[in-house]
Amino acid sequence: MKIITGNPGTGKHTIAKLISEKLNLEMIDINKIAIAQRLVQKNDGTLNVDVNKLKKIIDKKSQENSILVGHLAPYVVSAKNVKVAVVLRKSPYKLQSTYKKRRYSSKKSLENLGSEILGITYYDTIREFGQKKTFQVDTSSRTISDTVKKVESIFKKTRTKDDKIDWLQMVLKKGDMQKFFPY
Ligand SMILES: Nc1ncnc2c1ncn2[C@@H]1O[C@H](COP(=O)(O)OP(=O)(O)OP(=O)(O)O)[C@@H](O)[C@H]1O
Ligand SMILES: [Mg+2]
Repeated sequence: MKIITGNPGTGKHTIAKLISEKLNLEMIDINKIAIAQRLVQKNDGTLNVDVNKLKKIIDKKSQENSILVGHLAPYVVSAKNVKVAVVLRKSPYKLQSTYKKRRYSSKKSLENLGSEILGITYYDTIREFGQKKTFQVDTSSRTISDTVKKVESIFKKTRTKDDKIDWLQMVLKKGDMQKFFPY
């Protein structure tokens, strides 16, 4: 299967829906499966997901013509079932406005912004599926239709350059470390 992952608010569902329609692929939404299978538990305001059970279920569903979508993707599918993985990235400044609009608490917002700045999802995706299968795409410097085209070219294995992304460097240069990492 193909993977679209990335931190919350990076554009996964927007892009995955358009691509799955365009390429006629089945879209498998990790969050929907987790909820339907009752693998989500509320714990102290945060949601806990049983990733081991989820992995067994998703590995069974895995097939050539599907796109798996969700920020948990690197943890819920075996590498052998993954053809290619795209990690959507978004500038922390734009992501911050997305989180404001969504009314995320400051704790949830800072956690996710910190993860995006350090590139944790990208790093974990490479660790799980390997460098060769993993690509990152900056959605903050593209329109939605340009992002769809870029992801499509990666899925079709057209020669495509991986985006160079270093939010940490950008935040350091702007002197905003304290703002994103206050504790
Ligand atoms: N180039 C782009 N590609 C994708 N989404 C974009 C782009 N530019 C802006 N957006 C906007 O980013 C917002 C977040 O998108 P979306 O809800 O698809 O993210 P998500 O990754 O699925 O989030 P979550 O993990 O919370 O489900 C949307 O309002 C979308 O319109
Ligand atoms: Mg979504």
